[in-house]
Amino acid sequence: MMTEPVCKVADIIYVRFELTEFEEQKKYLHHFGMMLAHEDENGIFFRGTGTSPYIYVATKGDENKYIGTAYKANDYSDLEALSKEFNVDIVENTEPGGGHKVTLTDPDGIEVEVCHGMNQAEPVAVVSKVLNTGQSKARERNVVQRFGNAADEWQLKGDKWVYELSSKVKRLGHTAINCRDPKASVDWYANTIGFLISDNLVAPDGDSMGAFMRCNQGDKPVDHHTLNNMALPGDSYPGPYGHAGYEVSDSVDDLMAGHYHLKTNGEYFHEWGIGRHLLGSQMYDYWRDPHGFTHEHWTDGDLIDASVPANDVSLFEFGKAQYGPPPPATFGHSMPIEEVNKVRAEVPDLYEGVLKDLAKMQKEMENEND
Ligand SMILES: [Fe+2]
Repeated sequence: MMTEPVCKVADIIYVRFELTEFEEQKKYLHHFGMMLAHEDENGIFFRGTGTSPYIYVATKGDENKYIGTAYKANDYSDLEALSKEFNVDIVENTEPGGGHKVTLTDPDGIEVEVCHGMNQAEPVAVVSKVLNTGQSKARERNVVQRFGNAADEWQLKGDKWVYELSSKVKRLGHTAINCRDPKASVDWYANTIGFLISDNLVAPDGDSMGAFMRCNQGDKPVDHHTLNNMALPGDSYPGPYGHAGYEVSDSVDDLMAGHYHLKTNGEYFHEWGIGRHLLGSQMYDYWRDPHGFTHEHWTDGDLIDASVPANDVSLFEFGKAQYGPPPPATFGHSMPIEEVNKVRAEVPDLYEGVLKDLAKMQKEMENEND
């Protein structure tokens, strides 16, 4: 039964980690296309070109660990309502963004910060490219499409060509988390911060495997998902962090530039992509950071208002893309970089594994019914 949530958050702001070191991570986030907003001995704060003062935070810890995600409240009264409901204090945010916040814990132990009154950063101007299609020639005549420094973006470093133009990350768009009990997680986010279900992932046995959830802002269109909370196929719980998805500032070229920047740089592990999702429709490209956590560049996602009802979908719609390579077995699992190839060698990708089993099972059921 749908009850009125404690509040309805407006958007996502940042992800929070604890890391044992900052230097390697700073280098990665620069290559990934973020900008250092603030640092001190205890923390690093990175921003995008949008208005959030930061979209990625890491503080010093004894281990490398995802701590949680922060969301933006529309009103201070939302913090008061959460404070009363969960018996937690409203505290001043002593980090660079300022304002106030409450910190809750979701059913999987993930910290959920709900913030109000944070400073807005001055957005960084980005000149958008105009794309022509077969149907519509939107670019003005005599204007040529050139990115960055054109051919000079390719620089010979030692013996290899490196593409120097990175993506320009604009904002954090969503996180994907792994849940022990997906129904408990979906209910918690719906009842606590007002998330609506965009797509309900239904397992072959009819059980819920989780959902893609979005903010409820009434008539105002929002991203198809701000949270993907699900139980991945497999026997063991892989830990809470799946990935964080960041919207790039410009279109598909911004995403592709980032891909070749990270690829030719040669230091980082490519996780999945490039492709176009079915659920949310984004073009995506996933890269692991030096600590084994996955971050996604995405562009061109669907916007949906609160009028659209929840949709039931199967694992096929999650695992298959509109186009793109099969999702690797490691997708959604955080692990040290050294382990990734070992797991991939042992466990088949989703096309060869889970999805093939599922397709065969469905065929058998169809044959039995004939
Ligand atoms: Fe994503």
